[in-house]
Amino acid sequence: MTVQAERRIKVAVQKSGRLTDNSLHLMETCGLIYSRGRDQLICFGENMPVDVLLVRDDDIPELVAEGICDLGIVGMNVFREKTSDEMDLAPVMELDFGRCRLSIAVPRGFEYRGAQSLAGLRIATSYPRILGQWLESQGVQADVVTLSGAVEIAPRLGRADVICDLVSTGSTLLANELEEAEVIFDSKAALISRGGEPAEGWPARLASRMRGVLSVRESKYIMLHAPRAALAEIRRLLPGSESPTVMPLEGRDDKVAVHAVCRENVFWETLEGLKAAGASSMLVLPVEKMLA
Ligand code: PRP
Ligand code: ZN
Repeated sequence: MTVQAERRIKVAVQKSGRLTDNSLHLMETCGLIYSRGRDQLICFGENMPVDVLLVRDDDIPELVAEGICDLGIVGMNVFREKTSDEMDLAPVMELDFGRCRLSIAVPRGFEYRGAQSLAGLRIATSYPRILGQWLESQGVQADVVTLSGAVEIAPRLGRADVICDLVSTGSTLLANELEEAEVIFDSKAALISRGGEPAEGWPARLASRMRGVLSVRESKYIMLHAPRAALAEIRRLLPGSESPTVMPLEGRDDKVAVHAVCRENVFWETLEGLKAAGASSMLVLPVEKMLA
C-alpha cells in the first residue's frame, strides 16, 4: 500500500498530560506505526496516511472544529468547556481512560452544605463555562474567577475563597489542604470529530478500529466446568455473554464444559459467584482481536 497517494489525516492528541500515553498507545493498538518528529510535535504515520499532532489539550476542540485536525482525543471536561454551540463538534465515542472529575473544593474547615454555601463567594477555576452553567442550574450567584493554571493555590493567595478544579487522584487537593466538596462533572477521554461519527475514509476506519479495541479490552474468553443442574444459573452469572458453547465432559453425565466470550470484564467477584453456583476449573483468557 502506498501511503503517499492518499490524503493524510491528522489526529490531535494531548502533548503532555494525563491522556498522552494512553492516547498514543490507543493509536498504536489501532495499527499505527509512527516516527516522532524532532520537534516532538508531530508523529508521522509510516504505515497509514495518519499523523498525530501533539498539542495543548485545551486547543483540541478548536483544531478539530476548524478542520485542521480530522479527529481529536480529549477529555470530556475540555470538550464541554471549549465547545460552543456553533462549533458542530461531537464526541464519537467515550474511551476507557482519562477518568477524572471536576469538583468544588474548599479549604479545610470550610463547612460545605450544598451549592447554597457558595453564594457570594469567589470561586477560582479554569472551567468558567461548566462552572457557570452548574451555578445557574443550582440557582446560586457567585463570583467566578477564571485562572489558566495553578487554581489550587488561589485560596492561599487570597484570590478566591474556594476552587472548582479537576480531581483525579486527589493528591493536588491534599497537598494544598483543600477538600473535595461536590462533583459537578464526571469526565473521561473521548474521540471527537466534526459533525459526529465520521462517514468515510481513514477517520471512519480509525473510529471503527477504536471501537474494536475497546470491546476487546473488556472482553474475556472464559472456560469452566459446571454441574448440568446449575447451567441456567451459571449462564445468568456470565457477564455480557450471548450464547455460550456447552460441551459434554468425557465420562461425566452430571457435568459439562462451558466456553463463552464475555463482553464485560470478569472480576474476582464474578468468579467467586460462579464457584458458589457450582462451577469449577475456571480459566479466564484475554481476547486479542475480534471482528464481529
Ligand atoms: C489537573 C488539576 C490539578 C490536577 C489534579 O490539571 O488542575 O492540578 O490535574 O490531579 P490529581 O487529583 O491527580 O492531583 P491537569 O493535569 O489536567 O492539567 P491541565 O488542566 O493544565 O491540562
Ligand atoms: Zn489543559
